[in-house]
Amino acid sequence: MEFSKIKEALASLPDEAAEPIVCSVFITELLKILGFEVTEIVPGYGTGTGGDAVDYAARKNSGSDIFIQTKLNPYLLVEVKGRNINLHPKSAQYKSTVNQLKRYLLALNCQTAQWGIIANGNYIQLFRKHGKVIYPATPCLEITVDNIDKVILAIKQKIDNPPKTLTVAIYNNKGGVGKTTTTLNLAAMLAILGKRTLIVDFDHNQQDLTNSLGQKPHEDTLYSWLVNDSIQQVPKDLIKAFRVSPKAGIVWQFDVINSDKKIQHIPEHELRQYINHGRLKQVLEPLKSQYDYILIDSPPNWRIFSQSALYAADVVLIPTKHNSIFSLENAAIVIESFIPEIQKERQDGCPIPLPIFFNGEHITVPGKRTADEAIEKIINQAQKNRANPIDMTPYFFPKDTSARKDHHIFYIPSYAHIAGATFNRVPAVYKNKTACEHYLALVKEYFLQ
Ligand SMILES: Nc1ncnc2c1ncn2[C@@H]1O[C@H](COP(=O)(O)OP(=O)(O)OP(=O)(O)O)[C@@H](O)[C@H]1O
Ligand SMILES: [Mg+2]
Repeated sequence: MEFSKIKEALASLPDEAAEPIVCSVFITELLKILGFEVTEIVPGYGTGTGGDAVDYAARKNSGSDIFIQTKLNPYLLVEVKGRNINLHPKSAQYKSTVNQLKRYLLALNCQTAQWGIIANGNYIQLFRKHGKVIYPATPCLEITVDNIDKVILAIKQKIDNPPKTLTVAIYNNKGGVGKTTTTLNLAAMLAILGKRTLIVDFDHNQQDLTNSLGQKPHEDTLYSWLVNDSIQQVPKDLIKAFRVSPKAGIVWQFDVINSDKKIQHIPEHELRQYINHGRLKQVLEPLKSQYDYILIDSPPNWRIFSQSALYAADVVLIPTKHNSIFSLENAAIVIESFIPEIQKERQDGCPIPLPIFFNGEHITVPGKRTADEAIEKIINQAQKNRANPIDMTPYFFPKDTSARKDHHIFYIPSYAHIAGATFNRVPAVYKNKTACEHYLALVKEYFLQ
């Protein structure tokens, strides 16, 4: 591949290059090296929201569908800034640029986009879009003439081989907030919508997910796979299908990796000698081309299994209860401490938290007000944290903007059929229309466009 041109382009880019110069000198070379021809690139692409335009959209031509002519179905968006804009990941300008890119990726004319790039000649970052979820595919990388070839090659490899799966850990270290129930019904709903879904019961002590489906835990299969680095092939019998046939001719199916009894009996300190918390991510890797979603149910603590779940995930879905301050405070700890801890280890910007939701309680107006006040306190405290101030607003009040106060939080109410379904060993979604509507709303809120 011809990397010398991009090195030359970056070397010739003035230190204070404004946006048009970054575009003409650097970004045109970048798009070329990523494999796009002139007729496959549209500058100033209208996103379909008001007058919004992203600096570049790109997509391969297909037969007579020439992108520059039809301007339909972009694959990649690039938002460019001048070198005078600070894209260091801790800067305010970085955050606003990421938000801008996210807005564009979700806009009407960009629904087909699978990738987004922000770049200014000093920094570059690639984002992946899976359904509605946007997460970092690389960290925000500082670029120099010396590393630009490696950085662009890594970006190109990702864009050319888009991962099929979104891996989601369902986690809050507070117990009883609905992690298992959410994992189960979310998988059931995704299956109805035709998505290939795998769920992993990684709460080996409780094994609630496995039990809720009336399945047997593994005796050793999963344990051996986790412990033994040399096993390359996915063991036979590791994955069980869960099938429901509501009517002749219709089958809903999702796949399950049940918990393992053997793991349950080994104390944590011993387990850590055999299993590294990065291992789950590694063993799920060969399965990622087969599924649209992998959902991991996690235990209510911060030990090896939940650390493994977060390490394996692209994003973390955090159920809470509006009337449990501990569930809200624990969600804040997950966002402020645990997720950054794993991000630091992984060095690829993942996982990222999705906004919290309320689960399993009836919410009254005074109850919601009390929860909002508690959340405002949590947000203020996180902002005041001198060592590491974090803006938690997007994770608690995702629709709140500086222009308009909006305390909307998604919620799944308390619903007897959801609780009762475990007795039947079938997810509520498959048994009850209202339960189905609640989880369809969850899927639409977080995952599907
Ligand atoms: N929306 C809901 N409506 C009614 N009951 C619910 C709802 N969500 C969860 N439950 C019930 O609340 C209880 C706790 O839920 P669940 O086991 O999913 O929580 P968890 O976070 O996985 O718990 P743990 O921390 O012990 O793993 C269960 O009895 C479940 O059936
Ligand atoms: Mg559970």
